[in-house]
Amino acid sequence: MTEVLKLLTRNVGKPNSTHVDAYMGSGGYESLMTVLHKWTPEQTLNEVKAANLKGRGGAGFPAGLKWSFLPKGKEVLKYLVCNADESEPGTFKDRLLIENDPHSILEGIIIAGWATQAAGCFFYIRGEMPAGARIFQKAVDQAYAKGFLGKNILGSGFNFDVWVSRGAGAYICGEETALMDSLEGKRGQPRLKPPFPAGYGVYGVPTNINNVESYANVPLIIRNGAGWYTAIGSPSAPGTRLFGISGHVKRPGVFELPSGVTLRELIYEHAGGILGDRPLKAVIPGGSSVPVLRADQIDVTMDPDGLKSVGTMVGSAGVIVMNDSVCMVKALLNLMEFYAHESCGQCTPCREGTHWLELIVRRLEEGGGRPSDCDLILDVAGNIMGRTICPLGDAAAMPAISFVQQFREEFEAHAREGRCPMRDVRMTAAI
Ligand SMILES: Cc1cc2nc3c(=O)[nH]c(=O)nc-3n(C[C@H](O)[C@H](O)[C@H](O)COP(=O)(O)O)c2cc1C
Repeated sequence: MTEVLKLLTRNVGKPNSTHVDAYMGSGGYESLMTVLHKWTPEQTLNEVKAANLKGRGGAGFPAGLKWSFLPKGKEVLKYLVCNADESEPGTFKDRLLIENDPHSILEGIIIAGWATQAAGCFFYIRGEMPAGARIFQKAVDQAYAKGFLGKNILGSGFNFDVWVSRGAGAYICGEETALMDSLEGKRGQPRLKPPFPAGYGVYGVPTNINNVESYANVPLIIRNGAGWYTAIGSPSAPGTRLFGISGHVKRPGVFELPSGVTLRELIYEHAGGILGDRPLKAVIPGGSSVPVLRADQIDVTMDPDGLKSVGTMVGSAGVIVMNDSVCMVKALLNLMEFYAHESCGQCTPCREGTHWLELIVRRLEEGGGRPSDCDLILDVAGNIMGRTICPLGDAAAMPAISFVQQFREEFEAHAREGRCPMRDVRMTAAI
């Protein structure tokens, strides 16, 4: 069995893990001291680039490369954003870090600030995480008191601030440009790109945005070096991942493992296997937006290459496990309700398409389905794909298409029988 690595989660569960003194007691802020006193911003950026740190928010873009897109020099006003919106169904790994080890995120943010010579960072946290917002604000206050934030940090001449900003219950505000509009006090709607955030971001200022887990990796890379980091996990996506597993497993939770662990091992070893010892039916491997897998497709590594080989993605690494008691039409209905509700309404294919997908899947589940509905779902979803300003449309279309492709017989049985054929199974599954 692959060993659980305690790198990002090294402080989780320790006493006072959110306090700056406890964090410093185990080597915290030493990476920041190293870069401020010994490394130039360019060296710092190059180390993160060499580590090939891939973004953990979903798209997997290389973090160091993204930082290098910002204009150079401290005379250019630049901002960072930390995306702590974490609203993707099945994803709950950032919350673990925010509530248990806020200083590791903060240290990564300040190092990124040094590397890019940014003026400060907006920490945008999901509105439904009030505890996380309080904990993170406290960590920020402690960092100011210790001189890790503010003017002339640790005598280096570097000035950097962090502002905590709370979201207000909208999944779309996790999309980077909708987040920026929301930060500015506007309605959170994605912006057309270009211009990209590196040129025109928050308040029109060049901005870099990264996920919580992405920033939390940075102090580890500085402390141990890019060579150490690239030796962990898959070469194409090095480091560990915080896999959040939920659904029908005996031990749901967040597991920190090298990126190349297999999906089978994750489910059957780390998460303890299937609840009720029933057969596995389906797995969504990377948060609700990625294509679903059948039970016979889990012998793949949990990295971009492995999951691509079975037509899906690692996304936000939120693994949703479903046993044989699950009706796939009902499961898809649940997702379609979510996306129709969360579509911001700006683009017609997404606004109308997500609504129609919900209606069609609902009528199938409730007994009014038609034989043509499978093809209709594929057609509607196919007309959303790639036709919207932001990827929320694709995020709704991909599960719709894959659920029908992978479990077509079950969808057709709903239409043929005029009822949910899984209802009896669900009633007898005592789980
Ligand atoms: C609808 C939607 C919701 C998103 N929600 C989040 C989120 O909650 N957290 C996050 O880090 N990225 C989210 N993203 C991805 C961000 O747009 C962006 O790619 C990410 O914050 C970049 O950070 P990274 O490069 O470190 O992964 C979302 C994207 C979309 C389209």
